[in-house]
Amino acid sequence: MSDGVRAGADRVVLVTGAAGGMGAGHARALAADGWRVVLADVADCAPVVEEIRSAGGTASGHPLDVTDPAQWEALVADVATTHGALYGLVNNAGISRRLRFMDTPHDVWRRVLAINLDGPFLGTQACAPLMRDSGGGSIVNISSIAGQIGYFSPSYSASKWALRGLTKSAAGELAAWGIRVNSVHPGLVETPLLAGADGFVESAVASIPFGRMGRPGEITDVVAFLLGDGSSYMSGAELTVDGALVSNGTYHRILTEMDGEL
Ligand SMILES: NC(=O)c1ccc[n+]([C@@H]2O[C@H](COP(=O)([O-])OP(=O)(O)OC[C@H]3O[C@@H](n4cnc5c(N)ncnc54)[C@H](O)[C@@H]3O)[C@@H](O)[C@H]2O)c1
Repeated sequence: MSDGVRAGADRVVLVTGAAGGMGAGHARALAADGWRVVLADVADCAPVVEEIRSAGGTASGHPLDVTDPAQWEALVADVATTHGALYGLVNNAGISRRLRFMDTPHDVWRRVLAINLDGPFLGTQACAPLMRDSGGGSIVNISSIAGQIGYFSPSYSASKWALRGLTKSAAGELAAWGIRVNSVHPGLVETPLLAGADGFVESAVASIPFGRMGRPGEITDVVAFLLGDGSSYMSGAELTVDGALVSNGTYHRILTEMDGEL
């Protein structure tokens, strides 16, 4: 993942939801590649920061509820003081509530939308001016394949579809500031987000042509690509990272069930 990553003192990246799961993985990998990583989460980032520092990387941990504009403002002010620049933002924090449409209470709907959609909106508004003053940058929004196909959980699906739209809206506006904005759409990835969903996962894998879930590092590689100069002409784009589930899942399953017979 070292190809195409911007070099120099402005290699500062902020990753939300970095205390665990894929966010922690992104933070570790980016730090190993020389980025100064600002980790932010409602949960304690200290163990991941400690790990990164022990491995020789540069990182700091910050409490952040992505739904709170005042906390975003304070964090960006802190980054400006400490690093003087910001090049990358990875809007990774997200929650999932696997509730079917008619079982989804309004408060769950609001909470999922607040974290998965308001979070990236507020983060983009808060970070963009510093990124502009740093000479431009790259924002990576972590959506999902649930933002590309119909998905049974309305709050999660609506939030991830909307994040896809938000990405394209921001890409248009922020191009003038030299800021690229793209979305990543992971399929099923082995992280704590899917803990306790064994039956769901087993059945879902039957629709994945690759025959397995994704590994967190396979998402990290795409995030790193979008942060780096190797994607310098990409903005408003969406990258699906799903073992061909969205493009081929239906017919893969049908053919498997028919045992290859047509
Ligand atoms: N795991 C998958 O299969 C999968 C698939 C597609 C997309 N995604 C998306 O990838 C992203 C990361 O998922 P993950 O599987 O690593 O999840 P995870 O649950 O392991 O980690 C999410 C992190 O976000 C943090 N967080 C939650 N609410 C927050 C808030 N209000 N403010 C700040 N931080 C908050 C949590 O503390 C946690 O550290 C999410 O946006 C998720 O929707 C995951």
